[in-house]
Amino acid sequence: MNRHLLSAADLSRDDALLVLDTAEEMAQVADRPIKKLPTLRGRTVVNLFFEDSTRTRTSFELAAKRLSADVINFSAKGSSVSKGESLKDTALTLEAMGADAVVVRHWASGAPHRLAHWIRGSVLNAGDGTHEHPTQALLDAFTMRQRLGRLEGLNVGIVGDVLHSRVARSNVLLLHTLGADVTVVAPPTLLPVGVDAWPCAVSFDLDGVLPKCDVVMMLRVQRERMHGGFFPTTREYSRRYGLDARRLAMLPDDAIVMHPGPMNRGVEIAAEVADGVRSTIVEQVANGVSVRMAVLYLLLGGDLSAGSEDVA
Ligand code: CP
Repeated sequence: MNRHLLSAADLSRDDALLVLDTAEEMAQVADRPIKKLPTLRGRTVVNLFFEDSTRTRTSFELAAKRLSADVINFSAKGSSVSKGESLKDTALTLEAMGADAVVVRHWASGAPHRLAHWIRGSVLNAGDGTHEHPTQALLDAFTMRQRLGRLEGLNVGIVGDVLHSRVARSNVLLLHTLGADVTVVAPPTLLPVGVDAWPCAVSFDLDGVLPKCDVVMMLRVQRERMHGGFFPTTREYSRRYGLDARRLAMLPDDAIVMHPGPMNRGVEIAAEVADGVRSTIVEQVANGVSVRMAVLYLLLGGDLSAGSEDVA
């Protein structure tokens, strides 16, 4: 594996399967009375978040702690960033404190790539602008494999605000690497320029795509990134692209429903669908911890053979 995880495209098929297989081992730690391994003892992981997060930040923190790393949580709010300190100076300051890995979320697409040129430790992209979110794609693939038993040949529909979604791009790249067939479904206004070059099909017709899906992944409508009118009204968007009980019935019987969170209930997904038996949304969150443990372990070269008895 590369030293950094910046893009889902950094992962070969073997790399991705190694992460998923390692995450399965890590998941067993959650069932133990002491949910801790000594594998990253003495290592320091910095969570460097310039954008809000609930799931990603807490699961990276929990993952690093379960591997016995020291964790520094840095939020741009309340830091010297508000006094004008640059990303580079912030990163070099944290590295001077001994960071072995920096987990970065930033509003600017490409920020983790810049960071990787400046610091000696590993850089893990925890979401950069509208670009990529590779660990989300890994936890989504892990969840699909756990529920459906395979990834090769799965038909996956990714639906909604593809334009602003780093989750969509990383999922398309990773699922293609792992042999799944992806269709992105959105109104024309919510598809990025260049989507034709992505390794997936493109459709505007959700009702036409749903009957073929093993997995339907609903995307959040990212209002905070919208400056202008991308659809006439929220009601109209939901009518054309929302997943409600009527549309759920169009899916094959064993198909699953995913959402990376946070959700706009009643907009891209109805509450009864989000909370229904086909929904994997809560599992995705739990799997995020195991997958991020696997990524930290593999990038930082931890020692899984070390026992857990001597963890303080
Ligand atoms: N899925 C996801 O990235 O959620 P957060 O923004 O809460 O981290």
